[in-house]
Amino acid sequence: MPLVTTKEMFEKSMKEHFAIGAFNINNMEFIQSITDAAEEAKSPVILQVSSSAIKYARINYLIKMVEAAVETTTIPIALHLDHGPDFETCKMCIDAGFTSVMIDGSKYDFEENVALTKKVVDYAHSKGVVVEAELGKLAGVEDDVNVSEDDARYTDSEQAYEFVQRTGCDSLAIAIGTSHGAYKFKGDAKLRFDILEKIKEKLPNTPIVLHGASSVIPSLVDMCNNNGGNIPGAKGCPDEMLKQAGETGVSKINVDTDLRLAMTAQIRKVFSEEPSVFDPRKYLGAAKEEIKATVAHKIKNVFCSANKA
Ligand code: G3H
Ligand code: 13P
Ligand code: ZN
Repeated sequence: MPLVTTKEMFEKSMKEHFAIGAFNINNMEFIQSITDAAEEAKSPVILQVSSSAIKYARINYLIKMVEAAVETTTIPIALHLDHGPDFETCKMCIDAGFTSVMIDGSKYDFEENVALTKKVVDYAHSKGVVVEAELGKLAGVEDDVNVSEDDARYTDSEQAYEFVQRTGCDSLAIAIGTSHGAYKFKGDAKLRFDILEKIKEKLPNTPIVLHGASSVIPSLVDMCNNNGGNIPGAKGCPDEMLKQAGETGVSKINVDTDLRLAMTAQIRKVFSEEPSVFDPRKYLGAAKEEIKATVAHKIKNVFCSANKA
């Protein structure tokens, strides 16, 4: 099946109350592990690429590897630009064959965000590509923008309605308490489901996106720390909350940190348990298995997208 947009998978997710995992990719190991897990679970999946991933791996390499995954699987796969910083990056990805782009205008004021998003939507739609936009600010680090927890701005439902009407964006990323990276909560994890419900009331037919949604899997954090790592106090969104988000109207759940942890934990473990190993296939092979298991768990038990392909 060729690359698809997110349109149909989101329609199904809204009708059947499950979420689709959007996993960040940076190299072949991530692409193979994610798509193998999704194929085995018969789940639709979104592969997403940030501008730093493009800088690291080069856009044509990423696209060719994703095409190889598409050729050897049967599930719907969308290729998405994550946190597109400007019109030019979105246009580059659209022209290169991405089926979905995010324009992240959340760092701008409302009017500037509307104008930039509308410009991207007009171009993307003329090429059959869908657009995710963002309203509200996540706590933590969002690309170059630093938002402290005190500044965290939850998405306002009235503004969200106006934003979607005026921009014509296909899906909307909202801020309800998640944040990027491995340190999401100082105390107990808390998501504002009341805000999500209000937004869904206003926008029942707009797919909602949750960024910063890694659960920062404790066993992987331990595996890192027990093998020479130093990430004490890392904390994410518990699985039950993410499951509830999927049931309450979130259609796309973004995961990057958990896959980074899975890869790093296994590489550290091989290095510390078998110091004589220097064949990269040995430690990257272990990393691939851990990433695959992580994605499989989320698809089956948290996002509930298994058998929805
Ligand atoms: O939300 C951001 C993603 O985790 C991508 O991070 O810009 O370091 O690739 P990155
Ligand atoms: P995490 O850092 O929680 O994995 O979030 C990833 C993300 O939102 C990518 O856009
Ligand atoms: Zn994000």
